[in-house]
Formats: sequence, structure tokens, C-alpha cells
Amino acid sequence: MRCSVCHFFTNLLKTKPGKVFSFFGLILQALKPLRMKFFIDTANLNEIKEAYDLGVLDGVTTNPSLMAKEGIAGKEKIIAHYKAICNIVDNNVSAEVIATDFDGIIREGKELAKIDDKIVVKVPMIKDGVKAIKKFTSEGIRTNCTLVFSAGQALLAAKAGASYMSPFIGRLDDISQDGLELIAQIRLIYDNYGYGTEILAASVRHTMHLIKCAEIGADVATCPLSVIMALLKHPLTDSGLEKFLADHKKVNG
Ligand code: E4P
Repeated sequence: MRCSVCHFFTNLLKTKPGKVFSFFGLILQALKPLRMKFFIDTANLNEIKEAYDLGVLDGVTTNPSLMAKEGIAGKEKIIAHYKAICNIVDNNVSAEVIATDFDGIIREGKELAKIDDKIVVKVPMIKDGVKAIKKFTSEGIRTNCTLVFSAGQALLAAKAGASYMSPFIGRLDDISQDGLELIAQIRLIYDNYGYGTEILAASVRHTMHLIKCAEIGADVATCPLSVIMALLKHPLTDSGLEKFLADHKKVNG
């Protein structure tokens, strides 16, 4: 979800003459706050705390693999773990359903949504997933459509009303397809029509992924703690600080 009058006019200029786009959708976008969100892609409570304490964290994404990595198994433990995550962060905790059929996705998603208002139900980009996203949206339950690898899938997620839609850029890069190009393509499509679904760049592997996502205008990037921490680093910052402190010490002892 992007905004600002500036972006509104940039989008307007970028739109090819004759291309159909929703004027009111763009106005809506222009009124929404323009700020990139950082989510942390882990189920590890210490890492979530560390990122939150840095003051730059807007949410958490988990998936069944990340939960398994932390050894979280069984319904009660899974629910307790999501509660623990929700107790650390202010909002946006993606919790993924395991079911792949419509009724199962709805049942599990509702159980997850009940845990805390901060929960966003993560639903895979499959036929029953799209149907379930539409239903959750109509009932005011926030969703994150996951495992998105094409612009067509992104369009479906937006049409179903997903709150977030997660293209996996690292996994595309792994098979020699340009993940960032997909983010740019989806940005253009969503901006053409003013879709409110937020582009959540997932499977972010390094700082350049993150920076390029910011340049393109992904609404959110989710990445491991190491990527957020790596943004801090610059050798000139380290040597500059060392010199400042040494000079201060020379005259102050
Ligand atoms: C987040 O929502 C995704 O599940 C995650 O970013 C996938 O990352 P991976 O490709 O590194 O497993």
C-alpha cells in the first residue's frame, strides 16, 4: 500500500496512454501512508526480540519450516508460540495454515485469527487458498497469500482481497529467474489499478535484495535478522567512529 501525492503523480506519468486504470484506486493509494515495512522471517523468539528492540520491526513472518526449525510441534505448543510472538511485536504476525482444502483452510485460519488480533492468516496460492482468502477478507480476517511466483498469481491474490501477497524472490533467483523483476512487474500491475494488497517481498536473502525492493517500492520485505543487521555495516562508519573517539580521548584523557 503506497501513498503520497508524489507517488500518485509518478504512477500517473508512468501509466501508458490508453491503459485502463482506476483513478479512484490511485487516489486511495495516494492517501495511504508511504513507509516500507520490515518483517522478520523467523519463529525464533530471541531474534524477534532483538529486531524489535532495534525499533525498526513492523511484523513477523513464520512458515511451517521455520516453526519446525524451532522444534514447535503440536497444536497447543504452536498456539502458545504464536501467542509468545504476538506478545513481543506490535502487529502483523503471519501464521500459516497447514490445510490445503477450503473447509480445512477456513477452520484453521479462524483458529489462528482467534489467537490474537495481530495474527495475519497465511494461505498458500492454490485454488482453495484463493477462495478462502476471499472468504476471510469478507469476514474482516487479514491474510497473507504465500508461495507466489508469478504476476498472474499476484493478480489473483489481489482480486481475492489478500491483505499481503508474498512473492518469493530468493527462490526464483535460485532457479535463474529474476525475483526482483517480478516485484517490479507486480508493483506496476497493482499501481495500475490501485489494488490495496501489500507486496510483501519474501525469501529475501541479502541486503541488496532489500535495498532493491525499497527502490522498486515493495510495501514490505521479510528477511532473516542477519539481513537487517547487515544494513548497519559500513567500514567508513567503523573507521570514522574509531577516529572520533581517539581524537576525543587525546584531549579529554
Ligand atoms: C516468508 O513468508 C516465507 O515463507 C519465507 O520468506 C521463505 O523464505 P526461504 O525461501 O528463505 O525459505
